[in-house]
Amino acid sequence: MGKTGSISRRSFLKQTVAFSALAAIQPRAVFGQLPSPAPDRNAAHMLMLGDWGTDKYLEQQVATANGMKSYVDVRQIHPESLFMLGDNWYGTLSDDSPRWQSQFEQMYPKSHFPGPAYAVLGNHDYEYKIGNKVEMELRYASRHEGTRWYMPSRWYTFTWPQEKPIVTFICLDSNLPGTKSDPWPWSFTMKREHRDEQEAWFKQELAKPRTTPFVAVVAHHPLFSNGIHKDNHLLIKRWDDLLRDAKVDFYLTGHDHDLQHLEFAGHPTSFVISGGGGAELVDWTTDPKKRGPWGSKVLGFTDFEAKDDAIIVRLLDQNAKELHSFRRHVGGAVEVLTPFAG
Ligand SMILES: [Fe+2]
Repeated sequence: MGKTGSISRRSFLKQTVAFSALAAIQPRAVFGQLPSPAPDRNAAHMLMLGDWGTDKYLEQQVATANGMKSYVDVRQIHPESLFMLGDNWYGTLSDDSPRWQSQFEQMYPKSHFPGPAYAVLGNHDYEYKIGNKVEMELRYASRHEGTRWYMPSRWYTFTWPQEKPIVTFICLDSNLPGTKSDPWPWSFTMKREHRDEQEAWFKQELAKPRTTPFVAVVAHHPLFSNGIHKDNHLLIKRWDDLLRDAKVDFYLTGHDHDLQHLEFAGHPTSFVISGGGGAELVDWTTDPKKRGPWGSKVLGFTDFEAKDDAIIVRLLDQNAKELHSFRRHVGGAVEVLTPFAG
């Protein structure tokens, strides 16, 4: 009887978990096919890119960077800042490596991007055999006066734009111990005690009363992805309920080398993957037509345009062509827009 009871309980739990997982992966209905407006020169813009500091595909990094500069020029916008979404540095790096100049400072020049370049850590930043790049990235700004590189800690928060903030950004280190995407023998991850310390801090930040209309969580690893890395069940287990309970508006990442926008039934959060910064493109494991609303295997970047009542997220290719865009209103309604071609 006890055995049967225990099996039943176990199978009930299994079913519950299976049901929750199923609920999580159902696409969410989004409304509208209104045209995307021209990028607003008077709004705040942040350009985001992940997986950019490649050691093998430099022409691809240059192509995306050129697309970003051309976007700024043609649309005559003035980006307040950049967001570097992790896998900032592939291969070898040192504190004073010329790569910092050629592949960051000059690649994304002050002339176009005068504001801070906020950064989070990816799995390639955690490659150890070539020196501790995590430590190098954390101390770079203190050793290079005038740089726009901004990584004060492995997890941190800020409100944006600086004047009249619209979004609270909570930036996390998603290199948790046991993360599936650290298969290389020379990689390491954060320690368990740091994971727990970050998580306690994350919960505290989410529990604070909101001071901005929108909250965005930024990390390198997606929870859900149609790309080669698939859904990350470790992160889903640890963070998904936190995003849901706090009704976080955006979860923004890189890691899969493509562009994706995902919405799920009953989930309050819009998920964006912007990993087209330069590294090699990767294949789909789930058709973005089946679980979307959208994805494209292209190099590119994301423009995050903020106004008090809505955010417009535009996903653009290396030629600065808008491929997909959506507007998220205060309250959570998501409206997919017909890309601006103008
Ligand atoms: Fe990655």
